[in-house]
Amino acid sequence: MSSRGTVAVVRVEDLHKRYQADGPEAVAGIDFEVREGEIFGLLGPNGAGKTTTIGTITTRVRPTSGRVLVDGVDVGEDPVSAKLRIASVPQLSNLDRALTALENLTFHASYFGAPRRERRERARELLGRFGLGGRENDHVNNYSGGMAQRLMIARALMHQPRLLILDEPTTGLDPQSRLFLWDTMVDLRERGTTLILTTHDMIEADRLCDRIAIIDGGKIIALDTPTRLRRLLPAEHGVEVTVAANADPSPAFTAVSGTERTEARPAGDGRWRVRLYGEDDGRNGGLPEQALSAAQSGGLELIELKRLEGSLEDVFVHLTGRELRGADGARVSGRWS
Ligand SMILES: Nc1ncnc2c1ncn2[C@@H]1O[C@H](COP(=O)(O)OP(=O)(O)OP(=O)(O)O)[C@@H](O)[C@H]1O
Ligand SMILES: [Mg+2]
Repeated sequence: MSSRGTVAVVRVEDLHKRYQADGPEAVAGIDFEVREGEIFGLLGPNGAGKTTTIGTITTRVRPTSGRVLVDGVDVGEDPVSAKLRIASVPQLSNLDRALTALENLTFHASYFGAPRRERRERARELLGRFGLGGRENDHVNNYSGGMAQRLMIARALMHQPRLLILDEPTTGLDPQSRLFLWDTMVDLRERGTTLILTTHDMIEADRLCDRIAIIDGGKIIALDTPTRLRRLLPAEHGVEVTVAANADPSPAFTAVSGTERTEARPAGDGRWRVRLYGEDDGRNGGLPEQALSAAQSGGLELIELKRLEGSLEDVFVHLTGRELRGADGARVSGRWS
C-alpha cells in the first residue's frame, strides 16, 4: 500500500472526442488522474467511451480537444516518448497473424530496444507462463481466441512498463487464465507498475481495482474506491427472500416494519425473489426474522433468505440503468417483442 501515493502517472484533462465532425461525442469532457502504483478501473456500458479514452492515452486516438499527460509528458506533443512508457492490451486483437507467436513477442521487444538474446529468453519464459509453451512457433492464425488473448498479454509484458493498460483483458479467457492474469496484475502492482483496466466483470473490478471510474455517455458519472461506490446505493441494506410462488408474493411482506422499498422478480422454476430494502433497526426481531415470519404467515415455502449487501454490479445498474445500449450508446428496449 505504501507506494500508492499521490503522484499522477496519467492525467486526463477536459478530454473530448468526436469521431465525425457532425457526429455525437464519444467522450464528452472527462477529467481524471491515475496515481502511481494503483489499479484504476474504467467501467461503463457498451459504447460508453472506455476504449476511446484509453486510445487517447496510448496515442491511438487523437482527441478533439483536451489533453493527456503520461508521466508529465503530453502525449499529443511527444507521442513517441509517451508510448515507450506504456504497454497495452487492446480490446481487439492487433497481433501480426503472419508471424509466429514467438516472433510477435520478440519483434515487439525489439521496438523497446531489448537485446536479441534477452528478447528470446523473456518471450519463451512468458509463453510458458501463459500456457503457450510448445506453441511458440505456431502462426497466430492457428491460435484459438483465448490463446491469442493470452499472447497479447504476454506481449505487453515483454518490457517492464511503467504503465500497463488492459482493455477487457479477461474477456474470452478460461477461468484458469483469468485467475493467472489477476495474480499477474496484483504482482505487477506490488512491483510498482500502474495499471488501467476496463472490464464488464464486476467481481474482477471489485477485487482488483483501487479506484474505479464509471463512464456513461462519454462522461464520468462516479469515481471512487469500490467500497465508497457501494455507499452510493440508496438502500443497500435489507433482505432478499426467495419463495416458491406462481404470482408476485410481495403483498405477504407489506407488514415487515422498517421496509422502505420492495422489489419482486420472478426467479424461474416457480420461484419469486423479493427484496425488502431498509435500514434494519432490529425492531420485532429485525428484518430477517420478520421476513421469515411473514413468509410463514403467507403460507409461502421459503427457499432462501439472505441479507443484502450492495454489490458493485448493483451500483453500476443503479447508476447506468437496466436498458441495453444501442450502437450510439443510447438506451434501447431489451425486450423481445
Ligand atoms: N473508430 C471509430 N469511428 C467512429 N466511431 C467510433 C469509433 N470508435 C468508437 N466509436 C464510437 O464511439 C463511442 C464509444 O465507443 P468506445 O469503443 O469508446 O466504447 P466502449 O466504452 O469501449 O464500449 P465497449 O464496452 O462496447 O467496448 C461509440 O458510440 C462508438 O460507436
Ligand atoms: Mg471498448
